[in-house]
Amino acid sequence: MKIIGTGSALPKKVLTNDMLSGIVETSDEWIRTRTGIRERRVLSDETLTDLALEAARKSVESAGVNASDIDYIMCHNVCNDAMTPSLAAMINKELGANCPTVDLNAACTGFIYALDMADSLMKTGKARNILIVCAEQPSHFVDWTQRETCVLFGDAVGAVVVTQSDDDCFFKMSTQYTDALYCSDAWHDTPFQKCKKENNFLYMRGRDVFRMAVTNCCKDIKYVFEKSGISSSEVSYFLLHQANLRILEAVRHEMNVAEDKFPMNLDKYGNTSSASIPLLMDELNKAGKLHRGDLLVLSAFGAGFTSGAGVIKW
Ligand code: UT7
Repeated sequence: MKIIGTGSALPKKVLTNDMLSGIVETSDEWIRTRTGIRERRVLSDETLTDLALEAARKSVESAGVNASDIDYIMCHNVCNDAMTPSLAAMINKELGANCPTVDLNAACTGFIYALDMADSLMKTGKARNILIVCAEQPSHFVDWTQRETCVLFGDAVGAVVVTQSDDDCFFKMSTQYTDALYCSDAWHDTPFQKCKKENNFLYMRGRDVFRMAVTNCCKDIKYVFEKSGISSSEVSYFLLHQANLRILEAVRHEMNVAEDKFPMNLDKYGNTSSASIPLLMDELNKAGKLHRGDLLVLSAFGAGFTSGAGVIKW
């Protein structure tokens, strides 16, 4: 399997650290030094579905295929505009692809889960061209009175088109339970069951998540190297989930990788959950920095606690 097209879409509204300091007790200095984030985008006039469709169209165009050539659409989102139908079904309708659709949720690791599932569908001959759209709107489930979480996230969509090829790719996924990161849903009471009326904003114990992130990323990448027989020196780029500059730097140092192989864009967008890797990939692609045959190592982590890594040829 290989990636043949990328696309992304961002909300228009830019929210800087200084603007945030008018909402919660924080400062540009704290946010920059603890996370590396300077600004993020948040949805205001547009909907997530609008942006998902825009990114989907761009990735199909960049792949040089028609919507009718897409034979599976997978979306990843933690929180969609509608509980049902799925976002993938909405994109299918607007694109006119007329193919099977499904939404996945593996938190911030979602893009790597989607690639792994796409690879499996291709290996069983069930699909040839798959559109993957990672669309996230954390601004709708963080508590805007809690400085510990609301400063970290941003809304965005990243999309890719993958196609069947002889190029090998390899993915490794894992989940280990933690209560350090979760978000409850706001269900309604029924005549038979009362819902727990607990706070349904994102809950996070930052330090625990930080430790698990660094440990899992390093472990996952080492496992991928071992199983695929690829060495670090053969890799063109390490594309990691853009959560925190300090997490990325800790992994980079542990893996002993040069700075220029570890691209980052979280200063502009914050943590955009599963959208962060395809968004970064699209930026590199547009800047002409990806060349056919380049080996890309991907690694991400998120609530669950899910984590995953993989290697794929560009
Ligand atoms: O996709 C996965 C999502 N999650 C993550 O990737 C998060 C991983 N964790 C982290 O990135 C870091 O733990 C944080 C950036 C969330 C926090 O950094 P930290 O160095 O672990 O800080 P801390 O939580 O230990 O808090 C240190 C201090 C506390 O004050 P006291 O108790 O020392 O007086 C916090 O109340 O910083 C305070 N603080 C803030 N101050 C200003 C926490 N958030 C803020 C804030 N502005 N936004």
